[in-house]
Amino acid sequence: MNGVSGRMGYRQHLVRSILAIREEGGVLLGDGETRVQLEPILVGRSEKKLAELAAKHGIEHWTTNLDEALADPRWEIYADFLVTKARAAALRKAIAAGKAIYTEKPTAESFEEALELARLADAAGVKNGVVHDKLYLPGLEKLRRLIDSGFFGRILSVRGEFGYWVFEGDWQPAQRPSWNYRAEDGGGIIVDMFPHWNYVLENLFGRVESVYAKAVTEIPERVDEQGRAYAATADDAAYAIFELEGGVTAQLNSSWTTRVNRDELVEFQVDGTHGSAVVGLFGCKIQPRNATPKPVWNPDLADAHDYAGDWIESPGNREFQNGFKAQWEEFLRHVIEDAPNRFDFLAGARGVLLAEAGLRSNAEGRRVELPHVTIAGAGGAEASAELAGVGA
Ligand SMILES: NC(=O)c1ccc[n+]([C@@H]2O[C@H](COP(=O)([O-])OP(=O)(O)OC[C@H]3O[C@@H](n4cnc5c(N)ncnc54)[C@H](O)[C@@H]3O)[C@@H](O)[C@H]2O)c1
Repeated sequence: MNGVSGRMGYRQHLVRSILAIREEGGVLLGDGETRVQLEPILVGRSEKKLAELAAKHGIEHWTTNLDEALADPRWEIYADFLVTKARAAALRKAIAAGKAIYTEKPTAESFEEALELARLADAAGVKNGVVHDKLYLPGLEKLRRLIDSGFFGRILSVRGEFGYWVFEGDWQPAQRPSWNYRAEDGGGIIVDMFPHWNYVLENLFGRVESVYAKAVTEIPERVDEQGRAYAATADDAAYAIFELEGGVTAQLNSSWTTRVNRDELVEFQVDGTHGSAVVGLFGCKIQPRNATPKPVWNPDLADAHDYAGDWIESPGNREFQNGFKAQWEEFLRHVIEDAPNRFDFLAGARGVLLAEAGLRSNAEGRRVELPHVTIAGAGGAEASAELAGVGA
């Protein structure tokens, strides 16, 4: 487990996933009975931090030597939660070492490199998976159920709001790492969020065919973890329209410079001919056509109708566990008993492609179409050329 001292590595992957699975006696296999226990080794740069973490959680193994850990056949899976910039080099090493690999997104900083990693992993025959955590959120699982039940009729559009105020770091410390706000360090909200939007959209509504994005750096100077002012060179807000295969239009705002006036930090409204839904991380409200009010526009009269009251809370009807853990279990079953793997490096590469297309759209002020991406088909250079050529 490389990068366990980080925000995601520690909380979501180590504590909420791997240690939680260990506490349950291991990952439950497809037969519903057998459990396979996990033995983690923590990898990082700081001996002190690793020793502290290992002691705190009763973990036997840790090392600052990634190469040695990769060369040791006891460790079968390489897991990567490093800063984005450091990821591709580490993934290359893990592929060369023949390890199964599970990684945070984005898999690389450029589409070309992300696709190359997918190819290398495929050629080496190593199992590979990329975090798609948002799909495992209770709210999105409930949305999936609504779609599968035919609730929406024909889905017309999706509107999403993601974001909250990330403090500048001057009079209150920022609540996200400073590298996120420096383009040269792999930061930026498009690079961070579009990989998520790609898998959310393609798995629920249809492949993303094109994007128009406007990216901005609203706060040009921030203060880092050491109290030093730095130039925020990366985009901290992005306003985008995505056209999806099948005709659905999605508009998603992503912002670290907005104040929350919603029920949750991310919310999607889906409108269909037969009904609409608003889902967040946990919640899911629906309004079927039969319960739709008939508003009449009248600027002369204050409208006393309680629109929020028209929505019905959709029940969970089952337990939802932490999404990172749920996906870890799926990947572990893939490694152990060859269970299906839904989200591989190629899916990760499509996410990086959307981020790249979003940045290009912003730079060139135009809508950018996305090519189909397959390991064998649209090649790195070819796909990039196609991407560059569209609309030019
Ligand atoms: N799935 C999600 O919802 C989600 C959310 C946030 C971040 N992420 C992704 O997770 C990754 C980590 O983000 P984070 O917020 O945890 O960052 P972080 O800064 O908290 O942690 C980064 C980790 O990488 C290590 N690191 C930093 N520079 C390094 C280098 N040059 N070489 C080796 N190790 C280095 C740090 O020591 C730390 O362990 C990013 O790729 C980010 O895109 C995913």
